[in-house]
Amino acid sequence: MTDLEQYLESFDIEPGYLDWAAFGPLSTAVRAESRADAELFGTGRRTSIELVSSRAGEARALLAALLDADSDEVVLQPSTAYGLMQAIYGVRGGLLVSRADFPSLSVTAARAAALCEELTVQWFEPANGFVSVDEVAGALTDQTTAVAVSLVDFRTGYLTDLTGLRDVIGDRLLIVDAIQGFGVVDADYAAADVVCGNGYKWLRAGRGTGWARFSERARARIDPVLSGFAGVAGGLAMDEVPPPAPDARAFQVTAPDQLAASRLATALGQVQAAGVAEIAAAVADRADQVLFLAERYGIPVVTPVERERRAGIVALAPSATDAAPLAAALANRGVVFTARSGLIRLSAHAGTGEDTLVLLGDAMAEFAAGGSW
Ligand SMILES: Cc1ncc(COP(=O)(O)O)c(C=O)c1O
Repeated sequence: MTDLEQYLESFDIEPGYLDWAAFGPLSTAVRAESRADAELFGTGRRTSIELVSSRAGEARALLAALLDADSDEVVLQPSTAYGLMQAIYGVRGGLLVSRADFPSLSVTAARAAALCEELTVQWFEPANGFVSVDEVAGALTDQTTAVAVSLVDFRTGYLTDLTGLRDVIGDRLLIVDAIQGFGVVDADYAAADVVCGNGYKWLRAGRGTGWARFSERARARIDPVLSGFAGVAGGLAMDEVPPPAPDARAFQVTAPDQLAASRLATALGQVQAAGVAEIAAAVADRADQVLFLAERYGIPVVTPVERERRAGIVALAPSATDAAPLAAALANRGVVFTARSGLIRLSAHAGTGEDTLVLLGDAMAEFAAGGSW
């Protein structure tokens, strides 16, 4: 069995699940690890506690390898939004953000700017909500010091080009919310300064498995204003307040959740063994199949058709009168999806089986035929 086949074996979901962009059902390995760790944590044995706790370091090392970074640039976080807050609250100058981006960026930017006069949010409204290289190039000003963007847009599935963004922004900071692509997109993470994510979607590790990477440039320019007692150099500070640590630990508040970190390490180990490029190709194939079915049944999509500009999300854009019947046909066939602001978001993973695509095809055929069979 190849490593990819072994990875695919760890999907044992029920047919119909096309909502990986909302929540990733846990892999078999993550579930087994989680059960074992809970038992170890119940023993009261120091060695057992240390064994589970050591997995936080393993998770950081695996993240560093997948991000093409050093492990001291990586810090575990409760979630993506926490990591982004650590970065954005410390930015000074003009921060370019798309109004249509996920609120982990837009709300965080607005709140941070409300607190700090030296930070201004430079809102922009890219066509179709796609934060493309050209859109960013057109929106930059001399005041822009940082650009914050989602790797994969949660609504449309648009996959931005990190290498291209780096080329146009020069040495400004590039802050990336990677939750909708990390582990399933072979992206140029080294082009970014801050990359944040969480393991509860595409990594299949459950919540609490957030992380962030801060490059040397990020650490030089971003004040760790939300740094907590675990973010100092050395051990526990007694009777003094030391400065923040020089590495990415500066951007943490307290110690990570060891059980969550262990789930994350297990999930990342699976990704590393299978290979991101191989997983990405399998995910793109599944998205191809979803797009094929949408075209076959005449359902408009807003996701780019080019493979290099999308990942696992395909967003259908039925007309206002078609939205309810289409959603009903999908639900009737047991297809699990997210419907929001007129779009029906389908998100397939590498382990999405043919059985799920058959259900999807049947539901779309029923919708196209104009009724139930
Ligand atoms: C693009 C994007 N960013 C951030 C989040 C929220 O991430 P977290 O719960 O890890 O803070 C989501 C959740 O759907 C998302 O789609």
